[in-house]
Amino acid sequence: MPGVMSPEQLFVHELQDMYYAEKALTKVLPRLAEEASDSELSRAFTSHLKETEKQVVNLERVFEQIGERPEAHPCPGIEGIKKEHDDFVQENRPSGELLDVFLTGAASRAEHYEIAGYTGLISKARALREREAVGLLEENLRQEKEALKKVEAISKRILKDASNGGSTSRRSSSRRTGSR
Ligand SMILES: [Fe+2]
Ligand SMILES: [Fe+2]
Repeated sequence: MPGVMSPEQLFVHELQDMYYAEKALTKVLPRLAEEASDSELSRAFTSHLKETEKQVVNLERVFEQIGERPEAHPCPGIEGIKKEHDDFVQENRPSGELLDVFLTGAASRAEHYEIAGYTGLISKARALREREAVGLLEENLRQEKEALKKVEAISKRILKDASNGGSTSRRSSSRRTGSR
């Protein structure tokens, strides 16, 4: 494609971006499941991996619907979220509990990014009267919203455990948890 000139082409461009992001996430999520020490968090990553694999297929079906070949266009947004994770882990070598808290935040950032991406894609697909595409994209959006809710609940629980005397916060002499 020479350049994005029309709303149709913008839709394809953003679809290629999201396709790249979802494919990247299928490689990241198994690593996150491995890194998490909290078993509920680890399971959440594994179950979202399964959904993400299905989301990739849904996106391929959207490409098909609009008569385009599935193509991934590098998405700096998701790469940035990935890099933030890699840098933090490398620079801080966090303890298991702190790493879990960090991972819930990284996951939330990724979900918010995906939610924004799908919301934009759905409104464009609607404007272009691509009804099948709207349905497929809505299915992905629903899963992202659910994944966000789940990870936020896990984050709350882990933080509560930590401030109730989890090993990491116990060892620190200053009270850092505060009331928000
Ligand atoms: Fe996704
Ligand atoms: Fe997601």
